Amino acid sequence: MTFPYDDDYYEGNESNNEHFEIVLARALANPSRRGLLKGGLGLASLMAMPLSSWASDSISIPNAGVASQTLGFNATAKSLADQVMVPEGYVVKVLHATGDPIDQTVPAYSNAGTETDDWSHRIGDHHDGMQIFYIDANGKYSPTATNRAVLVVNHESSADAHFFNLNGQTSNGVSGQKFTQFGNWNVGQRPGQEVMKEINQHGFSIVELDLDNNGSIKGYKIGAPLNRRVTPMTVAQVQGPAAHLADIQTFMQTQYDPSGQTVRGTLNNCANGLTPWGTYLGCEENWATYFNIPTNDSAPESKLAASNKRYGLPTSPIAADAKKARGQGWFTVTDMPDEAGRFARWNLSPKAASATQDYRNEGNTFGYVVEVDPANSQSVPAKRVALGRMAHEGAVCSNPVAGQPLAFYMGCDSRNEYIYKFVSAQNWNPADVGGGMAAGNKYLNEGKLYAAKFNDDGQGEWLELSIEDPRIKNYAPYAFANQADVFINARSAADAVGATKMDRPEWGAINPKNGEVYFTLTNNNSKNRQPGTVNAANPRAYADADGKKSSGNPNGHIIRFKEVNNVATAKGFNWDIFLFGAEEDMPKDVNISGLTASNSFSSPDGVRFSPTTGIMWIETDDGAATDETNCMLLAALPGNVGDGAKVSVQNNLGDKQGNQQTFVGAILGDARLKRFLVAPKGAEVTGLTETADGKTLLVNIQHPGENTKALEQGPEYKFESQWPATAQGSQQYGPGQRPRSATLIITKLDGGLIGM
Ligand code: FEO
Ligand code: CA
Ligand code: CA
Ligand code: CA
Repeated sequence: MTFPYDDDYYEGNESNNEHFEIVLARALANPSRRGLLKGGLGLASLMAMPLSSWASDSISIPNAGVASQTLGFNATAKSLADQVMVPEGYVVKVLHATGDPIDQTVPAYSNAGTETDDWSHRIGDHHDGMQIFYIDANGKYSPTATNRAVLVVNHESSADAHFFNLNGQTSNGVSGQKFTQFGNWNVGQRPGQEVMKEINQHGFSIVELDLDNNGSIKGYKIGAPLNRRVTPMTVAQVQGPAAHLADIQTFMQTQYDPSGQTVRGTLNNCANGLTPWGTYLGCEENWATYFNIPTNDSAPESKLAASNKRYGLPTSPIAADAKKARGQGWFTVTDMPDEAGRFARWNLSPKAASATQDYRNEGNTFGYVVEVDPANSQSVPAKRVALGRMAHEGAVCSNPVAGQPLAFYMGCDSRNEYIYKFVSAQNWNPADVGGGMAAGNKYLNEGKLYAAKFNDDGQGEWLELSIEDPRIKNYAPYAFANQADVFINARSAADAVGATKMDRPEWGAINPKNGEVYFTLTNNNSKNRQPGTVNAANPRAYADADGKKSSGNPNGHIIRFKEVNNVATAKGFNWDIFLFGAEEDMPKDVNISGLTASNSFSSPDGVRFSPTTGIMWIETDDGAATDETNCMLLAALPGNVGDGAKVSVQNNLGDKQGNQQTFVGAILGDARLKRFLVAPKGAEVTGLTETADGKTLLVNIQHPGENTKALEQGPEYKFESQWPATAQGSQQYGPGQRPRSATLIITKLDGGLIGM
């Protein structure tokens, strides 16, 4: 999703971590150790280096040292066309799009809003993170190519669900509306048939792929044995450390399962992860927006209200005519039976005497890394509570080393939130490949959870989130009861230990060559980033000079870090900023990475390395530079942490100025950073996976035409986009006019490796 810059919804972090004054004081007291590592300067000379001398090397960064490898395509120009643009020599097709059937129980998608089924047998909307899985002859996951494969896709949001109905969405009998989780509307009474479609289009879709003899993808198979949907209605198991599982289940008690051992479904699945044993991790991101406490209902008790507040859940009844009403009104349905509270669950009011008799705890059941085994259509998805509860963007595993623990790196995508890691208690055993959910129980239940602190000297620390830490045990803003409470309120625990507030952490990725960890920080607004409130890891505060004129850190950046001794269990790391997003015509203190017309980008979001080519793919979800170009996919050939320079950034925003020192990766240049693909209008580019031979790339186009207005604003839709129905050539797909999210199959005409 693209979040509007003036929307303050995604801010629940009121902790005082990393005030600029503290950062500055530490900087003055502790000159860079990065210079020590890079330049071989003696400590004495570094200690003698005044802060002002850092400014003299302002924005002078070496070019990447590994220039021998370059990208093998001509950069795609910026584009505002309603078409997927790729370099010459590449061909794009659609694999599947919103609403396509997964089996024969439902007819082909009309794309006219006339479906009457409940969407549980169709591909969901808002395609996001995804992964190909190969299946061996025994029906188990195979890390190498076989002749059978499934594709798992996350379906993130229902912000475009107005397209699912002939005349848009309906409330209080009035049709033609467009509900989003972020808009302004009166919730009113919703029809059950619309609501069931909206609920079931979330979650995961799993379909078997139709492969030819060369392993190329011809399409997907309707009705194949492994095809399934996991939706917000699918039963899920609650899993966590044995010593804390009973306490965890207490937080999960609802009328649906008073024992708290199971919960229902998954929601708002954004980025994804792949485990070394071959299961899928779909991560629950901005799920809090779906819940409400309507007028005249009651507020939760103070501890639950404090927890809800930190996650952006409602803390008290919300007036029906509130400027920002909550959710899509799923709790308001009365024209269909409320089987097992499928509608009541979206109202967090304590209505009964006990939490086991209502849905006050339903908000506690979302915000997790959710594991499923795509090779087993009967596998019950597991909420892995030990990995913390947050707006989970994704979860990426360290390069596995036999005999050593695994680390899973996770971003919490809201402004000023944190980067986390989970370190498994168990050491990796390659014999567990294909081990399914049992292997998940082994590696993802027991372990330690940490939040990241990025110090101004280019080093960082992992801060363990443990009830044994007095800062957590005695934390005044939220009274933690036990370790289960720490997992479930991980954001508050990270506040307590002083993690670093980041510019909206999105996807993470691991460089397969050296294990370095990359995280996109998609953007932040000027409410949070001013010249006086930046820090070394989030160092820019500026205004876009033309077009949308957003300010703060509107174009975002990509940070990366190297764990000490390159081990998953490291307590510290070295970091630098790999790339700063910018328009190429911005001043050098904004366009620090020296971007040009062929690689300028804004708001990095999805990021993933190709295990075959080593290319780092970068996807954007932008609202700041969309006056110049639609969102895009870029290819990069990165070096390593520390290959650039320490720089001093001169920030200018309105009448405020300031200097911030930071560490920047080597300039990649046009040969090693290129725009590969540009999306249709109104779409973000997200999700990325490839066939084992590296010759087919799958990429998701999410929410084309998202700025299309509600029907009530006119007799007919004025579509911002009509992709893919009206696309040109090979990417033209499906009936109707309404825009649809879709998975792209990208191949090279000469059959070669993508990007090389
Ligand atoms: Fe779902 Fe953070 O994008
Ligand atoms: Ca601009
Ligand atoms: Ca410009
Ligand atoms: Ca995302």
